[in-house]
Amino acid sequence: MRAQLERDFERFGRELPRDFPAHVRERYHIDLSARYLGFPLPHPIGKGSGQLSLHESQLEIDHQAGLAFVVLKTVIAQDASGAQTMKAWATHETKMEVERRRSGDREGWTVTWKGRGWDRSFDDYLALVRVARDLTRSGELVAVPSVKYHLPVLDEPFRDEEYQFTTGALARQWGAGPLPLEKDFSPTLAGDARSDEREAILRWLAEVPARIRAGGDVRLGVKLMNARFDDDFQRKMVEGTKGADALIVFNRLFDVEQGVAYGGWDLSDRNLRVLTPGISPGSGSDTPGLRRGSVNLVGTGNVCSGRMIAEYARCGCESVQLHTAFQLPLSAYPSTDGSRTQRVLHQMIFDPTDGLIAVLWEHEAAGRIGRHDGELRFLDLLHAHPQG
Ligand SMILES: Cc1cc2nc3c(=O)[nH]c(=O)nc-3n(C[C@H](O)[C@H](O)[C@H](O)COP(=O)(O)O)c2cc1C
Repeated sequence: MRAQLERDFERFGRELPRDFPAHVRERYHIDLSARYLGFPLPHPIGKGSGQLSLHESQLEIDHQAGLAFVVLKTVIAQDASGAQTMKAWATHETKMEVERRRSGDREGWTVTWKGRGWDRSFDDYLALVRVARDLTRSGELVAVPSVKYHLPVLDEPFRDEEYQFTTGALARQWGAGPLPLEKDFSPTLAGDARSDEREAILRWLAEVPARIRAGGDVRLGVKLMNARFDDDFQRKMVEGTKGADALIVFNRLFDVEQGVAYGGWDLSDRNLRVLTPGISPGSGSDTPGLRRGSVNLVGTGNVCSGRMIAEYARCGCESVQLHTAFQLPLSAYPSTDGSRTQRVLHQMIFDPTDGLIAVLWEHEAAGRIGRHDGELRFLDLLHAHPQG
């Protein structure tokens, strides 16, 4: 099996078959099935919202590569007159720098960018949502919109017109059935004065989902920011989010000095520390870890290997959404050909040391997961025995 994996790694580095999950199941007896916002997925790897999901052509490349899901760039909510309270987030900025970012002795990657949300018209966004809807309906690629809605300071009321108009317009484009939707709480928001008050953040998380739902039938993923407070407050944010179907955990860190969001190993360390059940550092052994109720989790942040996908899964994440990994220089991928999406999938699944297949074998050997009718299942990592 190991020799087979080495061979597949080599040949799929030249061309990755679109239906690689079927190959993995047949050849390795591994079921990579995963879930995102209630959608069954052939494998757990999707694309987080950002500059890589602005155009139909980008969705087409992802579909051809066999990516499991894509979240469209975040649009800024508006009311019927076009007014946007969060207009400061609809800025136009194209320049992005893909850079190394060091954390202790580990080198990761980060994208430095001063831009924020969707900067074209709302009608343009609705046109992209129609493309996403058709891809999702046909079963080719789950593709869902993302919105940043008005977030008031403590004594201010919510601008419900913006919630209702934006959700209603998206839901009408989507047509039958619930509209799958992410609500983005972004790192630039974490760096904004609006987020200085813990109570203001907890109020948003308690009230925003119901306000979104008032505008239409929605299946809602709330993408939580990393607030500028400690791990215990971050857990409070998870526990205090009311009425979400899934939580996306957690968007990038904010560097106050440089005024930019960043990722890399600091981000995955923080995210996994907050999510690990039973760990509540600094607060004594009698304090339980995260209490997230029955809400589903989706991981994001420095997913740079199959090993990292497994780490997020062991913390309860049914799938992961990557962004930085799709922007690296071509020399950073082990494959020699293919789109960046194909190259990422190839590395995440087939790398003989840190790919998902190899890592699932490790968890099996350590007795954390077992076989069902001869098959290992990715989703069993969510309930893996913790020891070892
Ligand atoms: C340039 C850039 C733009 C992004 N824009 C958005 C956005 O509009 N909405 C959003 O929810 N997340 C956005 N993100 C966050 C990513 O979707 C992702 O959750 C985050 O970068 C962590 O994953 P990564 O470490 O794989 O990049 C952006 C990230 C980057 C690097």
